[in-house]
Amino acid sequence: MQYILTISRYKREEKKEYYESFKFETENVNETVISALKKINSQEIILNINNEVSTKIEFECACIQKKCGACAMVINGIPKLACDAKLKDYDKSIKIEPLRKFNRIADLIVDRTILYENLKTLKLWLEKDSNIIDKRRELNYKASECLLCGICLEVCPNFYLESNFFGMPSIILTTRLLTELDKEDRKIISKLYSKHCFAGCGKSLACKNRCPKKIETDKMLVNGNLLAIWKRK
Ligand code: FES
Repeated sequence: MQYILTISRYKREEKKEYYESFKFETENVNETVISALKKINSQEIILNINNEVSTKIEFECACIQKKCGACAMVINGIPKLACDAKLKDYDKSIKIEPLRKFNRIADLIVDRTILYENLKTLKLWLEKDSNIIDKRRELNYKASECLLCGICLEVCPNFYLESNFFGMPSIILTTRLLTELDKEDRKIISKLYSKHCFAGCGKSLACKNRCPKKIETDKMLVNGNLLAIWKRK
């Protein structure tokens, strides 16, 4: 099967985007976008669709098993983990672009530092021993699977880089921490949650069903709000 992969490329010095297409052939039905990109890069001479010599495609990946979130990119307009995107699930022509909500570093590489900075602002760590109650244990476990890949932020109409609204990764991880704290200990985090998570969320739930780890973002939001805003146990 032959595919045409059209890739968004980036000239760093000029900060200029352009698109370049490559032919890619495979008989492997399990071929993923990430393995296709790696194979293109592994050629001694990389030729684009016009038979012009090109350069290696810059992208990030680490685990290749949907565990690290590094390979999040936009494939045919939908943000996905490239190691979870099988070529056979697309038409022969596939467009691959970087996440658009973050500053661009290279072809398919973006700077996701803001995700970690936002978590620092929220002080998302435990200073006392965990006091998790049973009914929240499952929620807490699921929240721990967040990859910080940024896919939910890519589709969120309320998140942008300078925004006071930190988006779903912060909601998920705050909810996780709140499940482990006493009502009394939740005060500071609840205040930050109110400012950076509750206030800015338009409840569009554009992030629903987008998480590669299948975290139910609506459930996280409801529970985060219950614990932080409505002060339930
Ligand atoms: S490479 Fe780790 S999630 Fe895709």
